Amino acid sequence: AGNLTLTMIKPTAFNKNYTGAILKMINEAGFTIKAMKLTQLTPQQAGTFYAVHKGKPFYDSLVSFMSSGPLVAVLLEKENAVEEFRNFIGATNPEKAEEGTIRKLYGTSLQQNAVHGSDSDENAKVEAEFFFSKLERF
Ligand code: CMP
Repeated sequence: AGNLTLTMIKPTAFNKNYTGAILKMINEAGFTIKAMKLTQLTPQQAGTFYAVHKGKPFYDSLVSFMSSGPLVAVLLEKENAVEEFRNFIGATNPEKAEEGTIRKLYGTSLQQNAVHGSDSDENAKVEAEFFFSKLERF
């Protein structure tokens, strides 16, 4: 039992075949997979997912990147999942992320920072429903 958070293994990390290593780290850190899929977002879908960032200078580029190739969406459960996962993956900018974190190990830029993590319980719920129907959640 616990709370939910939503992660995406971003297109660059997926294309570099980091998915297995990243999922292994996530499982070993005590997060339980509740739903998972490999998919590619249209620009419109990526825009909807990141709607909270609309108007920011990096929005258009982020939407373009996140719709540029397949990504792995994963719904995770753990006590205090949102905060725990954000601490676990490291700072948004891989250059500033702690040694040994997913973003430090597998991220290459602020945008291509290997994985997404929900920033609140509220957004985790919205993001979970964006990717997964009830039949796809376990
Ligand atoms: P993510 O956790 O997917 O949530 C929003 C994303 O926007 C973030 O990771 C970064 O990839 C990206 N992002 C956030 N801030 C900036 C920024 N200042 N410049 C470029 N991209 C950013």
